[in-house]
Amino acid sequence: MSLIMNICILTSTAGYYMNKDMFGTQGDFTTSPEVSQMFGELLAIWFINEWTKCGKPTPLQIVELGPGRGTLMSDVLRVFSKLNLIEPSKLSVSLVEISPHLSQVQEKKLCNSRTQPIDETDTSNRHYKEAQTLYGSPVRWYRNLSDVPRSFSLFLAHEFFDALPVHKLVINEQGCHEVLVDLNPDECTLRYVLSRNRTPASIYIQKDDPRKSLEISPQSIVIVQEMAARINQDGGIGMIVDYGHEGEKCDTFRAFKNHKLHDPLLEPGTADLTADVDFSALKWAARNPARSGKSNLIYGTVDQRTFLTKMGIDLRLEKLIAASQSESIKRDLKSAHQMLTDPNEMGGKFKIMTLFPVGMEKILARYPPHGFS
Ligand SMILES: C[S@@+](CC[C@H](N)C(=O)[O-])C[C@H]1O[C@@H](n2cnc3c(N)ncnc32)[C@H](O)[C@@H]1O
Repeated sequence: MSLIMNICILTSTAGYYMNKDMFGTQGDFTTSPEVSQMFGELLAIWFINEWTKCGKPTPLQIVELGPGRGTLMSDVLRVFSKLNLIEPSKLSVSLVEISPHLSQVQEKKLCNSRTQPIDETDTSNRHYKEAQTLYGSPVRWYRNLSDVPRSFSLFLAHEFFDALPVHKLVINEQGCHEVLVDLNPDECTLRYVLSRNRTPASIYIQKDDPRKSLEISPQSIVIVQEMAARINQDGGIGMIVDYGHEGEKCDTFRAFKNHKLHDPLLEPGTADLTADVDFSALKWAARNPARSGKSNLIYGTVDQRTFLTKMGIDLRLEKLIAASQSESIKRDLKSAHQMLTDPNEMGGKFKIMTLFPVGMEKILARYPPHGFS
């Protein structure tokens, strides 16, 4: 199933993310940054506050994994620029994006210059394009986090991990089996089958996990291990926002098309394939960073409603409403606030977890990260 997810999402010709814009009312789903600028602005304020606690180290790199339309990064950069906290030359933006189409959408939103073509045969170039942001900082695009330069970084992953492939495992009296996707020879359709034997993904099952059916995303674990190692070794702060659970859910793999649930095995490549993020697995990864470092300091998860409320979304809404002349804009702002904070919708379904370097322990014991205490 993991392989078929990878093919459906990422093949260059027909992969779901590769050639189209799937966001908004015309697309298959809407994300929090697309709902309102309030979301990205409050995340930016949070990062600035925590970066200040670290002593405002420069140069500062902001790394976003899976930036979609670039809306979140655009809101974050606007706040950094308005507050005039750092010279543009000391700030850089690194985007980890696999989709050529979305990287163009991001370029249009974030840049005032056209991207420079990169000679990818020169192996010293780890990025595939570069330009300058509207505020004059360099922005580069990478396919993998491991290619991003190492320096003090703010890592942001919003609805990134839910797009990565999962392996579905079933444990029964015969042992541990993986759910695989097979061709139904009679009808030329796809169907699920169980592997005869144990498969490599099973090495990620935790010893004390009581579930008889679970989803494992090795790619997510490896990426968080890399992020965690960089946070401890180079300094930085990580924030992961996604819909998910703390290791109690079993069966969350599903497909969305035109904002409706869709059969994942029908018309491969035309629907968004997704699974809830298992934050207990991401926490394990942050406790066991790559290159055998010490555990990161981990805060959360908290739900989006709690975080945004503690960060002052009610006050921000009031300010935006007061500054607006149009009744329809005021209505839109109120409905966006409701969407982002409703405990039955995004406010309750989305969870936030953050990672800090182990060296920040004493400071954070006195001044815990805002929104998580
Ligand atoms: C669900 S979208 C989220 C977009 C954005 N963060 C937002 O919330 O609006 C997932 C993003 O991750 C990117 N993506 C998916 N798989 C990826 C991979 N393996 N490596 C890098 N980017 C990936 C997609 O192209 C897309 O930009």
